[in-house]
Amino acid sequence: MSIEFFTRLPLHGETQFLPGDPRNRGDWHAGGASTGAVSGFAVGDHFTYIDYLGQIARAAEINGFGGALMVNAPSGEEPWTVCSLLARETRTLKFVTAFQPYHYTPWVAVQQAATYQRASGNRLVWNIINGGSDALQRQVGDLAEHDERYARATEFMDVVKGYWHSEHFHYDGRFYKAECGGLRGPQKKAELPLICTAGSSIAAREFAAKHADFYLMRAEHPDEIAALIADIRQRALTFGRSDIRFGLSIDVIARETEALALAEAKRFFDEGVARGAAKAKAAHEGLRTARKLSYEEDYRPEHDERAFDDFFIYPNVWSGFSHIGIPPGLALVGSYANVVARIREYNALGIDLFFLAGYPHLEEAYRLGEHVLPHFRGERQALSRPVQATAQLRATGA
Ligand SMILES: Cc1cc2nc3c(=O)[nH]c(=O)nc-3n(C[C@H](O)[C@H](O)[C@H](O)COP(=O)(O)O)c2cc1C
Repeated sequence: MSIEFFTRLPLHGETQFLPGDPRNRGDWHAGGASTGAVSGFAVGDHFTYIDYLGQIARAAEINGFGGALMVNAPSGEEPWTVCSLLARETRTLKFVTAFQPYHYTPWVAVQQAATYQRASGNRLVWNIINGGSDALQRQVGDLAEHDERYARATEFMDVVKGYWHSEHFHYDGRFYKAECGGLRGPQKKAELPLICTAGSSIAAREFAAKHADFYLMRAEHPDEIAALIADIRQRALTFGRSDIRFGLSIDVIARETEALALAEAKRFFDEGVARGAAKAKAAHEGLRTARKLSYEEDYRPEHDERAFDDFFIYPNVWSGFSHIGIPPGLALVGSYANVVARIREYNALGIDLFFLAGYPHLEEAYRLGEHVLPHFRGERQALSRPVQATAQLRATGA
């Protein structure tokens, strides 16, 4: 089984979560005195958050990551803009850019992507998302209900694939229409971005089964992941697809020894508990419509008494980050050897794309590149669209 590693760029200034770290990397910081970089563009103040993201992107590339995941949320930087800014600062790194069909018309997405692909050497990967919270959707003006959003996304991707592979594409759907449009000239040579998606509702699974090259998951207990993979594979078969692949997002606290890794994780945990992070996180839970993951529980005050060790749901798989509100929620915590062993376990379940990140992202990109990724040399395989999917896409444009 092949394996590939991407990292995650912190588009929400996630280094704010670092316990006791007063540094200000750009202008995202938790408060207190600024250490200098505030994006004011005044003399002597030239370090902006995009410079910090650029440093991480370059560190990821130097250290052997194949790409970087960029989450899209109203409270963070906009990923497509970020990857456009960083494409020319990197040479090989792929950018997994999340957006919602609601944000674009199919044509705008197609034309923008074709231009980006031609400029970057086909380094764009799409993560098509549809919103995990009705309340947040309404904040940005999207009044469509949950399943309606997926119906719209399904048509959106039908049209995108049609425009991409035919110069005279027609479509007459519920949400979109097209009359004789499509990429022409040099833009036709660009590759359609690889398609990722996530979400565990039935509507999300069906959308993935029809349109995704990669189905992405937040890490859970290996048994849950195995069940999800089996279900998505089954659904994809009903669309004549046997080659859908799987990605897993998980943070990493890896150190020379188990004890050092545990001490580092405990530093986050103790600080999070001390500042009441579990209760603060619970206050936002009402906004969410997405499924509770298997290890998540509704907050109760007695949870504040739970010990650090209670959050191991499997050897080296720790949900303490979720408890103190740090996404994606689970982290691999352990010695380099044990972290490598757990990655191999998830790989054997069918995960061949891992999104690994640590705090702070820049320094941990070097650590992962030096101590974890080299164990997989020889097994790595650059991301590409499977042969069957390519044939089906050609048929779309016929
Ligand atoms: C790896 C990964 C990345 C994700 N990135 C985003 C994102 O950038 N923005 C977002 O709103 N949701 C993101 N999600 C959440 C899902 O796209 C989805 O909205 C959520 O799981 C709820 O979907 P559901 O209600 O259909 O189950 C991500 C999920 C995963 C597993």
